Order: sequence, then structure tokens, then C-alpha cells
Amino acid sequence: MITNTELEYKGNLYPNEIVNFVKDKDKFYFTTENGVVLEITVIQDRTIRFRYGTDHAFQPDFSYAIDPNASRGYSHLDCLETKTEYIIETSKLQVLIDKKTLRTQISDLNGNIINEDELGFHWEENYEHGGNTVKMSKITQHTESFYGMGDKATHSNLKGKRVNNWVMDQYAYAKDQDPLYKAIPFYIGLHSGQAYGVFFDNSFRTHFDFAHERRSTTSFWGDGGEMNYYFFYGPEMHKVVRAYTNLTGAPELPPLWALGYHQSKWSYFPESNVKEIAKKFRDLKIPCDALYLDIDYMDGFRCFTWDKKKFPEPKRMIDELYEDGFKTVVMIDPGIKVDKDYWIYQEAVENDYFCKRADGPRMKGKVWPGECNFPDFTNPAVREWWAELYKEFMAEIGVHAVWNDMNEPAVMEVPTKTAPLDTRHDYDGHPSSHRKAHNIYGMQMVRATYEGVKRYVYPKRPLVITRAAYSGTQRFASTWTGDNVATWEHLWIANVQMQRMCMSGYSFVGSDIGGFAEQPNGELFARWIQLGIFHPFCRVHSSGDHGDQEPWSFGTEITDIVRKFIELRYELLPYLYTMFWRYSKEGTPMLLPIVCYDQEDTQTHFRTDEFIFGEQILVCPIQEPNAKGRRMYIPRGDWYNYWTDEVVEGGKEKWVVADIDKVPLFIKAGAIIPKYPVQQYVGELEIKELILDVYFTEGTENSTVYEDAEDGYAYENGKFSLRNFKLLGKEKEMTIQQFKDGAFITTYETFKIKLHGLPFKIGKVEIDNEKTTIKDVMPDGDGTIYVSKDFTQLRITEE
Ligand code: GLC
Repeated sequence: MITNTELEYKGNLYPNEIVNFVKDKDKFYFTTENGVVLEITVIQDRTIRFRYGTDHAFQPDFSYAIDPNASRGYSHLDCLETKTEYIIETSKLQVLIDKKTLRTQISDLNGNIINEDELGFHWEENYEHGGNTVKMSKITQHTESFYGMGDKATHSNLKGKRVNNWVMDQYAYAKDQDPLYKAIPFYIGLHSGQAYGVFFDNSFRTHFDFAHERRSTTSFWGDGGEMNYYFFYGPEMHKVVRAYTNLTGAPELPPLWALGYHQSKWSYFPESNVKEIAKKFRDLKIPCDALYLDIDYMDGFRCFTWDKKKFPEPKRMIDELYEDGFKTVVMIDPGIKVDKDYWIYQEAVENDYFCKRADGPRMKGKVWPGECNFPDFTNPAVREWWAELYKEFMAEIGVHAVWNDMNEPAVMEVPTKTAPLDTRHDYDGHPSSHRKAHNIYGMQMVRATYEGVKRYVYPKRPLVITRAAYSGTQRFASTWTGDNVATWEHLWIANVQMQRMCMSGYSFVGSDIGGFAEQPNGELFARWIQLGIFHPFCRVHSSGDHGDQEPWSFGTEITDIVRKFIELRYELLPYLYTMFWRYSKEGTPMLLPIVCYDQEDTQTHFRTDEFIFGEQILVCPIQEPNAKGRRMYIPRGDWYNYWTDEVVEGGKEKWVVADIDKVPLFIKAGAIIPKYPVQQYVGELEIKELILDVYFTEGTENSTVYEDAEDGYAYENGKFSLRNFKLLGKEKEMTIQQFKDGAFITTYETFKIKLHGLPFKIGKVEIDNEKTTIKDVMPDGDGTIYVSKDFTQLRITEE
């Protein structure tokens, strides 16, 4: 009998010397004398997986994070053996495995060390729960910086910090508070001009120490499961993010309206209030595409029901709103009210769909409806049932989109704020406790929601939003950063969080603009809108009991400013959609912190505020009251001030004027920015011409415009329009070439080209090598050029 569990504690255990080596195609197995097995898999030339088993065994290989469609394959693979080590080589990397210690070292093909083990893999046996606490420590390289890790509300450079991942409902969280709503155990390291990434795919609570405890060491560990991590080599940061996103997946294109402006509140009800809000948007001519219904639309907070007193005929209301361009988004939570007369509860009980405690009773917890049970979304049968529950909402009532909230799962009135750790889960046939399933629970809920919504809005595209997420959730849903606060500090947090999420493979993200808790004043609200329109998901949401937060709630001056910026978002929709297309296709992050834009410039390594929207627009929000402008760092290269067309040379800090009606905004010289006219909602107008804002540069720059039907799936069969523009500027000449792909026919025939910063007077315009009459192509007399959308070359010269 064991009476003292301390006796079982063996301290840290380490692998010893390698006694066996086996190669199996793209996998390599190294076994140590004391039974540790290291499996190295070459996923791609720059992506390598490291996995460690103890006692000669691995656990079943299963992950919710990995996209089943992730690409694999390498162009070169070699394995050598020396006296002291094994060497695996791809066309990008070399991995050394030390024969005595099993420690690894990764370098590029020139021998530059990118990442190396300090103690490497070690572990502690866990008597209480079984299994191991699995640990990895690495040497922190000289001047190394760290980025990524999801929604952490802290400085973008994580050097010197320790964080952990355990998805949590954190109402009114504070700066540096950790953990928050997401668990994204992925970081990027940057040193000596080289970037790499590490994704520790382990759904238990995981911990990361970035040279916090010891300056020379960076480590990560998990409370259970396996030491199982992927290494991605850049050397550019954006390539690291792309490789990670390729592995864990990118979302499909959303309907374009999902990128419009959205208005939410907890809660708009009854129907007359929703209609009033809708009318006000149209009366005041403030563009808006979606209105949100929070929990109060439900009957006693029972999911998939309607409070018929507040919303007597939901279908009619949703149809009427839609006639005016509004899409209706409704909330669904995971907690199912314990109520024997509620059909969903009955179905779940009959089919045994609820999570159970270790000894058998159903897991119970309080949420909005009172006592609830929680479906086990890690069971495929439960997910299928859940998906089908959306049939009536989407296909019959006509709801357009769904947001899943409280899916950490959040439980009220208990100190842990979530399910007890002994709660059991199916984990897709790998039964587990909540310790292992907690971080992926919300992900599996929203995955089921996505399946259902997609099925029943078809042939249109789904929009689903989630609060909790684990790596890979981006395949199913967009997300927001939870219950923030209406303070200037939270505006700073929102800026950092969105950039960080984009660097963590999760670009479709936004904050509750203006703050969820408490009420902003007009100035803060306007400044937040000026940031929020540059976030991929753009929604105002607030907890209604703190006052109103509609664009018109702060007087006419603020209303006018807010309108102007929402209009700018609508003008930039083709640019934003192109950004999304790139994210969806290539995994390219939609927002780049400037360190990702120019990692060789060390000035960028500790900047938090400036970011690149897409590839060619530089934004830097104003984050304090009474500002008339701010100092900001302009990355290297030439940039046009959006408001004045003044050209500034980057590579330095600069004071930029931005009174309350402006935000510091710059366009990269050489860029061609596509714009639509302002619409009150996506699809309101037929686009008659595509505006191209052309920013002259001496040299070359490429720009892209992606378009399609803005909804539906025809684009998958070639019905898209992709235009690649190449601008070549010289002292007295500018040429734009267009390369077109795809079979989608845009509604417009003409480009309206607005030239910025042209250093010469236009004397001659040639289209596809034919001379034109200036009067014909420039009828407005203000330098605007009208040209057929089919041109292949436009040449403008002085003579
Ligand atoms: C949670 C959500 C918030 C929502 C509220 C009521 O706090 O984060 O967005 O409004 O619940 O449903």
C-alpha cells in the first residue's frame, strides 16, 4: 500500500544514450537506453515534428489542431551518422540529435544555429493523474525576441514573460492578465535576422517561459499528454506564420458582408428596438451589414428557442431586416437548461449526450438559464446532433449567422469558472478527463456549429463566431477577444491582441469596439472605431447596462467621425477582401506587426502600436485622450500620408498630426489600392467602376485585387477575378501592367485611376501600346484616368 505519495515523486527524469535508430520513410525513431523514444517527422522542408514517448511507447496519435488537408512533402531528405550524433537534413534545415543525451540542435544549411535544446526533453511522473508532466527547455539565443501565443493582453514581444494556456471566461480582464479566452500554444522566435516557430500541440494546460525564470533559457511544458511540437523555419516571420497556418488550417472565404460593419449589444430587444436601431443606421446613412441578438431573444435562455413576447415572428422580422440589407446574427451557448420539459434537454438525456463526472452523474453547472448540463462536443455523434439543431434556425427562420459564447465552457459561481477536472469526455474515441479536453471543448462546439450553419445556409457561405479557441479553430470560426473594458488601456490591448492573433494564425478577429464593460466617452469611442475598422472582424458590442454604444450615442461631431471611418472601411472592402483571400489561400496574416513587415530592422522588434493592414497600408492608432497626433515609427521605405499625400521616408520616428477626425495612416509608395464606392451594406449598389488609387514610386511595386460573387462557392470552380498589377515608375514615366486570372466577370467595365504623387505632368497616355486622346481618358480634367478593366499595359509619360 502506498501511504506517502511523495515516495512516488521521482523528480525530473531525462533521456540517456541512444541505443536504437530506425528510419521509416519521412519518420526517424531514436530510442534511448532508458526507454525514451524520439520520433522526428519531416512534414515539409521547413516543418519538422518532434514527439517524445516514455517507457518505449507513444500515446495514440490524435490532434484536433491539425488540418486534415495540410500539405506534406519535401524536396530533399538525408540522414547521416557520426560518432557523436545523427544528422537529418532537408533542403532548408539540419537537425542534429546527440547520441548521449537525445538533445537536438537545428541550424540552417550554412550552419547558423536557429534553435537548440538546453536540457531538452525531460519529464516528471504524475502519480495523482497518471502520465507525465512533459517539459522542454531551449537555449535562448543572443538578442532573441518572441511573438505569437494567441490573445495574451501583454507586450507584443514576450521576452522575459511567462504565460500559460487554459481557456477562461475573464470578464473585464486586465492588461497582463493571463490566461484569457484562447489557448494557442504557438510562438515565433527571432534572432540574428532569422525567425522560426514552435507549436506545442498539447491540449492540456501548457506553460511557456520566455527567458523569464532564467535569461538564458526558454522552456515550455504541459500538465499531461506528450511532448509533441512542430518546428517551422522562416527565415521570414510571415513564412513561419504561413507554415503554422498551413498545418492548422485557414478558414474558407466568408461572405463579403461578414467584413462589413456589425452592430451588437447585450441585448437589443424587443423587435421594435431592433427595428429602431436598423432604421437609425439607414436614416443617418451609417453603413451597417449585421445586427446581433444576444441571449435575451431566447425563451428563458434556452438555446434554439425564441421568447415569443419579445420576438413574436422571428422569420418575418429577419426577412424585413434583410430587405433593408441587415443580416441577423444570433447567440448560442453550450449550457443546456436542466428542464425536463425542454425538448433539447430531453433529446440529450435520451441519447446520453451530456458530459459526465468521473463516477457517473451528469456534469452540472450554472450559466444564464440556471443549472445546466453540457453536451460533450468531443463526441462526433453529439456534434452531428448539434449541427442538425441549426436546421430550423438557418433554413426555416432565416438566421444568417451564429456566435457561440461561453464555450470555455464558462460556469458561474465556482472558483474555477469552468467544468470540474474529473469531467469525462469522449475526445473522439480517446476518452479523457477535462484536464485534457478543456482547451478544445469550445473549439469542438464551434466546429459542430460551423458544420450545421454551413449545411443550412448553403449555397451561401457561413459565418460563425466563437469566444473560446484552441489552435486550428480558425478553420471553423471568426472570433472576438471577449469582455474587454471601455478604457484607453484596453484600446492599447485590443491593438496588441489583434496583431498577436494574426501572428498566431488567427486573422479573422476583432475586439468589442468601444469596450464591453463600462461606457466610453465619445472621444474614446471614435478612436476605437478608427482602429476597429482596420481589424478583420469589425463589430461594436457592449454590455447594455452601461449605456448606449451606437455610432450616434455621443453627439453629432462623433457620429460624423464614426460615419467617415466606417465609410472608409466600405471603400476599402476590395482591398480587405483581397487580404482575406490571401489569408485563406496562403495563410498570410492579415495584420502584420511592423517587426513582421521588416524583421531586419531591429527598431521594430519591441514596437507595439504600428501595424500593416494587409501589405501596403500602415496604421497607428491614437491611444490617449486629447491627442492632436502622436510619435510613431515609420518602417523603412517611402510612405504617403493618406490624408495629405505628403511622402515621408521611413526608418525613423516621426510626429504625425491626427486630430480627433484622423488616424495616422500611410500608404506604401508604389501601391495600387482598390476601392468601392460607399455602400450602406454590401451589395446595395452595383459597382459601376473600380477606383484604383495609384501611389507613384520610382521603382516597382506589385498589387493585387481579388474579387468574386461575394458569396456562394462559384469561386471554387474558377469564377473569381484576380488582377495582379505591376507598377514601374521612372522620372518621367509610369507603367502599370495588369495580369488577369479567373473567369468571374465583374459588374464594372472601367477602372477609375486616381494618381498620387506623380512627379511629372501627363503629356501622353498609351493603353496597350496605343496612344489615346487625353480628353477621352481624362474627361474630368483633374488627372483622373478612366481605362477599360481589360487593359494589359497603361503607360503615362510626360512627353
Ligand atoms: C458574455 C459574452 C458577451 C455577451 C454576454 C451575454 O459575457 O462575452 O459578449 O454579451 O456574455 O450573452
